Amino acid sequence: MSVDGILAAGAVGVVGAGYVGLATATGFCHLGHRVVAVDRDTTRIDRLRSGHSDLTEPGLDSVLQSGLDSGRLTLSTDFAELSRCEAVFICVPTPVDGAGHSDLSAVFDVIGKLIRIGGDICIVVIKSTVPVGTASRAERLLRPSAMAVVSNPEFLRESHIVTDFLDPDRIVIGDSDRVAGDRIAALYRGIEAPLERVSLESAELAKHASNAFLATKLSFVNELAALCERTGADIREVTAAMAHDHRIGEAFLSPGPGWGGSCLPKDARALLHSGREAGIELGVLDAAVAANTGATGRVIDTVRRGVTGSAQGNLHGRRIALLGLAFKAGTGDLRFSPALDICRSLIDEGATVAAYDPAIPQPVAGLPDEMELVDDPLLAAKDAAAVIVATEWPEFTELDWAAIADVADDPVVIDTRTFLDPGQLSRCGIRLYSNGIAPTGVLHPTSSW
Ligand code: UGA
Repeated sequence: MSVDGILAAGAVGVVGAGYVGLATATGFCHLGHRVVAVDRDTTRIDRLRSGHSDLTEPGLDSVLQSGLDSGRLTLSTDFAELSRCEAVFICVPTPVDGAGHSDLSAVFDVIGKLIRIGGDICIVVIKSTVPVGTASRAERLLRPSAMAVVSNPEFLRESHIVTDFLDPDRIVIGDSDRVAGDRIAALYRGIEAPLERVSLESAELAKHASNAFLATKLSFVNELAALCERTGADIREVTAAMAHDHRIGEAFLSPGPGWGGSCLPKDARALLHSGREAGIELGVLDAAVAANTGATGRVIDTVRRGVTGSAQGNLHGRRIALLGLAFKAGTGDLRFSPALDICRSLIDEGATVAAYDPAIPQPVAGLPDEMELVDDPLLAAKDAAAVIVATEWPEFTELDWAAIADVADDPVVIDTRTFLDPGQLSRCGIRLYSNGIAPTGVLHPTSSW
């Protein structure tokens, strides 16, 4: 049987129906494969069977529904259904603790189950993000069952998972068994993207290194923003000039309140841990992580300066509005959101925080108890001494800033994302601090240095 013949014969299995698993299952189904997606969460599987993912992911419900309509997508809580699959993709969480140690119990639990199920399974594909060396460990466990291991890391941005699966920048396939790698590569037929065929170790490291590199780029930009403020430069002008250099590129050059989310912080810590385990110091990444920890402090200093006139001023008893809670626009995800760090710091200082986020209309787990969640930016801004814009939701550029100036208490607006129009806010009589832009006439090298 040819490689294509083998693939055509069996279904693709996917374990885990979260962001990664769903993108993988619906994506392969869209490419014409039969897919069996398994998750132990009965409520989630029932909901998915009705065509709803509950994730804020453009296009996901549509590919899910067409998968179900085509009859090629099976959703189940029964692991045994995977026995008719020839390749099974593991897409389960791999949380990382504060020291960077990855909890791989979910991955190895699945591998144990796949060994017991057996059946048609001949390739186990690790798509979950794992530290280097994990696939080799899996290979040793799977050897007696004659199942091969392939590493096929995901590069799916939250709020873009469907397009990132079907139109990726690259597909990375790591293997030590060329035929197994060929079979997995063939599953992606129909997608136009560079294909990197590498070793298991390289594939694992490529994933961690990509996220860690992006994190490092952002820490650099955020520090540069601080320097711009101090020297009278404008971060938007500096990065625009840098971006023309194709070696630098234009992506990931926007300053922010620090990088967050469920991936960059976790993967940066995990890579540092891999470095320590291997006796290699990753000093640049270490510094990038440390710089990110300081990013919240810089926002709070700016709030203090704006409200009290001094970076050492007291915010006790002041009311602060927080616009945006999610770690980035386009998602309601609060995991490792810098906005929450800002919120907790303000509360620790005795300030009152009222927050609004278009994707979080109701209280959800993870929000600080002391924080007031409101469903209208004007309510958040009422009597506020400062309005912090922490997430770059496009709708914040369309806000009625004149109305905000009216209801707030001579507010200062802190634009941590540098995306609001300074002219518009100034016409409303608002004092604006934009991340990486020196407040006019306030800071200049000749006067402050
Ligand atoms: C990240 C990677 O971008 C994906 O390629 C990867 O597959 C994914 O993690 C993963 O490992 O699963 P994601 O967590 O969705 O995706 O978040 P990003 O879009 O990368 O944003 C990360 C953080 O950087 C956010 O806090 C965002 O606001 C911040 N950011 C991003 C900036 O502050 N400035 C920018 O210019 C870009």
